[in-house]
Amino acid sequence: MGFLRISAAEAASLIKNGDNIALSGFTPAGTPKAVTAELAKVAHSEHEAGRPFQVGIFTGASTGQSCDGLLSEEHAIKYRAPYTTNATFRKCVNKGEIAYNDIHLSQMAQELRYGFMGDVDWAILEVCAIEDDGRVYLTSAGGISPSAAALAKKGIILELNAFHSTKSIGLHDVYQPLDPPNRKVIPIEHPGDRIGTTYLQIDPKKIVGVVETNLPDEARSFADGDPVTNKIGENVAHFLMFDVRRGIIPKSFLPLQSGVGITANAILAALGNNPEVPDFNIYTEVLQNAIVDLMRKGRVKSASTCSLTVTNDVLQGIYDDIDLFKDRLVIRPSEISNSPEVIRRLGVIAINTAIEVDIYGHVNSTQICGTKMMNGIGGSEDFERNAYMSIFTCSSVAKCGMISSIVPFCSHIDHTEHDVNVIITEQGIADLRGKSPMERAKAIIENCAHPDYKNLLWDYLKIADKGHSSHKLSAAFAMHDTFLREGDMKLTDFAQYVK
Ligand code: COA
Repeated sequence: MGFLRISAAEAASLIKNGDNIALSGFTPAGTPKAVTAELAKVAHSEHEAGRPFQVGIFTGASTGQSCDGLLSEEHAIKYRAPYTTNATFRKCVNKGEIAYNDIHLSQMAQELRYGFMGDVDWAILEVCAIEDDGRVYLTSAGGISPSAAALAKKGIILELNAFHSTKSIGLHDVYQPLDPPNRKVIPIEHPGDRIGTTYLQIDPKKIVGVVETNLPDEARSFADGDPVTNKIGENVAHFLMFDVRRGIIPKSFLPLQSGVGITANAILAALGNNPEVPDFNIYTEVLQNAIVDLMRKGRVKSASTCSLTVTNDVLQGIYDDIDLFKDRLVIRPSEISNSPEVIRRLGVIAINTAIEVDIYGHVNSTQICGTKMMNGIGGSEDFERNAYMSIFTCSSVAKCGMISSIVPFCSHIDHTEHDVNVIITEQGIADLRGKSPMERAKAIIENCAHPDYKNLLWDYLKIADKGHSSHKLSAAFAMHDTFLREGDMKLTDFAQYVK
């Protein structure tokens, strides 16, 4: 037996205006690429013919250009959840054209199952092998695939992508929890534990067609670290080792989660290169190049992730050396990689990047000046809220120094002061644990703010109305307001904002 082979265009023609599509993948890794690209062409011709054509998109996390990019360019996305990094999509969201539901990644699959976001019409899954009985082998990410396949009402389209070697079979640990009131403990007690199957079992009757492709993942490559990110990395390594020496972190160390991007890579490289840091484990959602390098060197003992968000040469290197990685690398669905229960049990140290931080330790990861979406919250709060220790890093200034990342009041809050233990910039470290709001403010301004903004932030505290957290509400956003009007946050003083 074999499943019907169809072209990507034939698959796209099945999808109708208003349908909701759930995709495999997490970041561009493991995301189907051929059918969504064809769907963008369908949208183009439908719009040219004067007919409406928009779909809803449900994913594990961000996708690549073939999905969010091409579909946004054609104004073909009506609704989308969760995280995305695509610039065109961002523009459409910030113009109010797309309804974007920016939810925690751990919640995506279960909220689909609970019916919070409407029906799933189609699942499109990228796989590297298919068995006649409906067992499929996912490629470079876990994402929401189990739920997508189970929920798809109209059918499942498989993209069988020869770019992903079948040598990768065995990397996945597919496990889907039951829903309340029947949910059981997720029995992971060590980052490398396997609790599920290497394949995803889908109902073969739901497979409407198989699209054969040979397309690389659309992974972003990140620039090498610069002096600022390298200094942040060093500060993180220094801070963690200080806590190991004084017994706050066990000498055997704890599993690490580090976000995505240049800073995250620099942090992992700094930890890997610090001889004082013992060999460690990773429990994360996104595994980047730096971790693969550290696994090869034996510095990372085992890694659990939701996706291999690595450059394509590094991905092929993993497939080529699969014997080295198979026993030490596990790819999980996002509701397991990001499970609050598991993260809390393992005692993960979470390190993510902030857009801005306020003087009391609230963190904004998502919106610029309170209104413009950057990417989304991703899995940052899944990890930070439940971590053994929650650390946020950022450069002390952005946009060539015109913006201070430390502000009196965050213009949008994703992580509250109750969830944040430590702030680290290239200037230094603010350890907020056990501190009152006013103690936190002093530590953040003194240790983390850029020298160009320190006096301004101290001045803000002087004019603030005294309280548990001192604020002057009329001046709380004076720095943002000045930036929006003059392109620079460095106002002379707060006089005009004090009423
Ligand atoms: N105000 C305005 N813009 C700011 C800013 C601020 N306070 N701080 C940073 N930016 C801008 C930068 O200038 C840059 O702009 P550009 O794209 O025009 O160059 C952009 O935001 C990204 O900042 P950068 O310093 O390059 O950091 P990054 O690539 O590490 O991204 C986040 C930072 C916060 C956007 C990113 O980490 C993210 O999306 N986080 C949320 C999701 C997450 O944490 N997931 C969990 C881990 S996978």
